[in-house]
Amino acid sequence: MTSRTRWGILATGGIAGTFVEDLALLPDAEVAAVGSRTAEAARRFAERHGIPRAHGSWADLAADPDVDVVYVATPHSAHHEATRLCLEAGKAVLCEKPFTLDLAATQDLITLAGERGLFLMEAMWMRTIPAVRRIAELVADGAIGEVTAVYADFGIGGDFPPTHRLRDPALGGGALLDLGVYPVTFAHLFLGPPQRIAALANLTPEAVDDNTGIILGYDSGAIATLHCGIVGNSPVAATIVGGTGRIELPSPFFRPDRFTVYHGDRAELVHAPIRGNGMGYEAEEVMRCLADGRLESPLVPWSESLDVMRSLDAIRAQIGVDYENNGRIAR
Ligand SMILES: NC(=O)c1ccc[n+]([C@@H]2O[C@H](COP(=O)([O-])OP(=O)(O)OC[C@H]3O[C@@H](n4cnc5c(N)ncnc54)[C@H](OP(=O)(O)O)[C@@H]3O)[C@@H](O)[C@H]2O)c1
Repeated sequence: MTSRTRWGILATGGIAGTFVEDLALLPDAEVAAVGSRTAEAARRFAERHGIPRAHGSWADLAADPDVDVVYVATPHSAHHEATRLCLEAGKAVLCEKPFTLDLAATQDLITLAGERGLFLMEAMWMRTIPAVRRIAELVADGAIGEVTAVYADFGIGGDFPPTHRLRDPALGGGALLDLGVYPVTFAHLFLGPPQRIAALANLTPEAVDDNTGIILGYDSGAIATLHCGIVGNSPVAATIVGGTGRIELPSPFFRPDRFTVYHGDRAELVHAPIRGNGMGYEAEEVMRCLADGRLESPLVPWSESLDVMRSLDAIRAQIGVDYENNGRIAR
């Protein structure tokens, strides 16, 4: 590997552009190539972002010898196929959240990465944001005592047509996989995998969830109360409650630049500025792991991605959203 990590970008949508903007802020990163389903989209994206090589297929990107790691930024329904293709071609992969549509597909990718000795990470960038890392340290060090409750929500408003990615079951639509993955991951971060799950949702005519409430229960007695939706702007805030204090994260809680620690009535405001759009931290984590020869990130370990997917599967079973056949809904 050269001293700069050479990134390949797979898909040319909204988040791919944001990620490339943040890679440009990292001296150790270079965007070597982009791959798309069509040569035209790849060429346009390459032109817009000054990327040297544009490939008109995922296979050509995966076979590019001058790419060290591929960032997969397709809709969720294609994460498994695209990531598998890259791993089979010998590439390390950072795959957008949610890792896949279900636990079995995530397990398949992790097994393959392990067998091939390749790095693989879910792009759960929240976990790499400086404020969230600091909060995780504080909680682990007992700054608020034992965690007894977590609250987190992620609701967005908008007039999403049935063909939109968020409503199309063939693209893994619904609030849970796109937005709910953040509050669910947040709860796992501070409480681990739950012992009990209760969930309710309203389903659209396409049978994906648009307004979803989730309660996670723990043998310790702790409770996580979570919400996600695509029918209204919610606070997108989070709170971690402990026996001796609490920590409040302002909107957006998955990428905060500050947080407040309450010790009894005393409030301590902590600033933790964000560089760029905040996506460079996960890229740095990937590059650190590659340099160290790791297959998985200690910050976003495979076990946590599997635990979260297991919870998402259980929630979907309760609310009646059932993706099969790589995104086709079975009903
Ligand atoms: N980390 C974050 O903050 C964040 C934010 C937004 C989204 N995301 C995640 O990133 C992923 C992409 O989201 P996005 O908002 O960028 O979506 P998007 O704007 O719709 O772009 C997705 C891209 O994937 C390709 N694509 C479209 N339909 C496809 C299909 N049926 N099969 C395979 N590829 C297809 C297209 O690129 P080509 O035409 O080049 O093939 C398209 O531009 C999602 O999984 C989402 O959860 C993460």
